Amino acid sequence: MPRNGLAAAFAATAVVLLGLACTAAAAAVTLQTGRSLIPVGGGSPVLYNATRDTAITTQYIDAWNNMNGITYLWGSTAPDFTYGLGEASPYNPAEKFRTLLRFDDAHSYVPADAVVQSAELTVTFINYNFDPVLVQACFMTRPWAYQGGPSYKTVGWAFSGWDGSASVPWTQPGAWADCSPNVNISFVLPSNGAYGYVSQTIALDPASVQAWLPSNGSANYGLLFRAVNGSVSIVSSQWQKDAPALRRPALSIAFSTDPADAPAPAAYPVTLGTVSRTWWVDPTGDDALNSGHSDSPFKTPAKAVFEAWPGDKIYLKSGAYPGALNILRSNITLQSAPGNWAVVSSPTNDPQQAVNVITLRPGANYGVIQDLEITGGFSYGISFISSTVEGPSHWTISNVRIHNTGSSSIKLSDKAANIIFSNCDI
Ligand SMILES: *[C@@H]1O[C@H](CO)[C@@H](O)[C@H](O)[C@H]1NC(C)=O
Ligand SMILES: *[C@@H]1O[C@H](CO)[C@@H](O)[C@H](O)[C@H]1NC(C)=O
Ligand SMILES: *[C@@H]1O[C@H](CO)[C@@H](O)[C@H](O)[C@H]1NC(C)=O
Ligand SMILES: *[C@@H]1O[C@H](CO)[C@@H](O)[C@H](O)[C@H]1NC(C)=O
Ligand SMILES: *[C@@H]1O[C@H](CO)[C@@H](O)[C@H](O)[C@H]1NC(C)=O
Repeated sequence: MPRNGLAAAFAATAVVLLGLACTAAAAAVTLQTGRSLIPVGGGSPVLYNATRDTAITTQYIDAWNNMNGITYLWGSTAPDFTYGLGEASPYNPAEKFRTLLRFDDAHSYVPADAVVQSAELTVTFINYNFDPVLVQACFMTRPWAYQGGPSYKTVGWAFSGWDGSASVPWTQPGAWADCSPNVNISFVLPSNGAYGYVSQTIALDPASVQAWLPSNGSANYGLLFRAVNGSVSIVSSQWQKDAPALRRPALSIAFSTDPADAPAPAAYPVTLGTVSRTWWVDPTGDDALNSGHSDSPFKTPAKAVFEAWPGDKIYLKSGAYPGALNILRSNITLQSAPGNWAVVSSPTNDPQQAVNVITLRPGANYGVIQDLEITGGFSYGISFISSTVEGPSHWTISNVRIHNTGSSSIKLSDKAANIIFSNCDI
């Protein structure tokens, strides 16, 4: 774009923003902690490049930690904080570990008079089990958070030192007496072999998130997680080992200062499950430090393909990206982000590392590749590879331009059935 065009574009943006300032504004924010804990014994918090630095408490629930959120400060030099869900306590096998998650200062990021239109929570679990595990969560109705020292009185959960009458004995699995009956969160967490990590996104009830905001968050009691029929781990807000921004919990809130934008009230009770996620990729992004949210994009499509689960979308901002992508999971959409145009390329002279620009593996079905330019590859632009029993089936390839490949643009194999090409230039 010529310089003048750029200047004109900025001027137009400014006008739009002024227009918004005069009326009501819709906005979105992703809350994620960029802070490592203050090291044991004191010192400055270590900052890294996260989406948004906010305070998030993840609290491990077991009898020996007095139900007091004390783990917020414990062992802060360890690199890999994960908390258990579902595992039996070594001190009392009848007790099952649970974890509480609270975005402590959500109210600082959303104006008190705004309406929450939608909210999306991303949490990473680790499931090395062979089987999937049923995970549930709820909105807490009682305070539990660590409040600056052993202050058992603030804990609504029954524990050995709790003298209140509320709450079921915490040794009971679940302790749902402290949960809002309005919203149950329930989903089956897939296993992910030796890699373990499974990032899940849950669309939260907007009104329940709204209730976290008034009076400086005084009724923000967070969410309780439990595993029902197996044991898994949840990655805490203190996670420091690798890709902290990707693994730590994140909450995205879309809000508006126009009361007319309030969503229709939900018909309670509602049961919420996981929703698909959009992973953002930008040539200026970062695979190691960023979270894949729109304001914290990855750098390569390969990283997004690796993290995406069935139903997820991968949005590529305009630019050129390396190919040699291997899609192994079903129901993945790969495309240029709306209003953008991305080019995915591989060299034509590397039969080891870049046979195809995009390889679709057997069992990866119902995917979509659209609005994309694909160039190069020693052999093919898109190769559908079949095993003896199955191929990648039910793919839709639309508005895709494939050119300058080493061999053909597309290679279909015998079991790659029900593939639709529309509006492609190949
Ligand atoms: C964060 O970003 C800045 C500027 O791009 C960079 O200098 C710094 O090294 C980054 N921090 C980490 C922990 O990589
Ligand atoms: C747990 O329950 C879920 C949903 O009912 C099921 O898919 C999963 O296989 C179960 N896992 C185990 C370990 O029993
Ligand atoms: C919220 O906190 C601010 C700053 O501490 C204080 O001035 C204000 O009165 C508080 N508002 C409410 C509703 O508690
Ligand atoms: C939520 O789950 C609890 C425990 O399984 C159950 O007692 C309650 O009825 C459920 N509420 C809704 C709204 O499904
Ligand atoms: C993929 O989508 C198809 C069609 O909507 C659906 O039948 C299938 O269960 C989905 N598979 C996965 C793994 O999500």
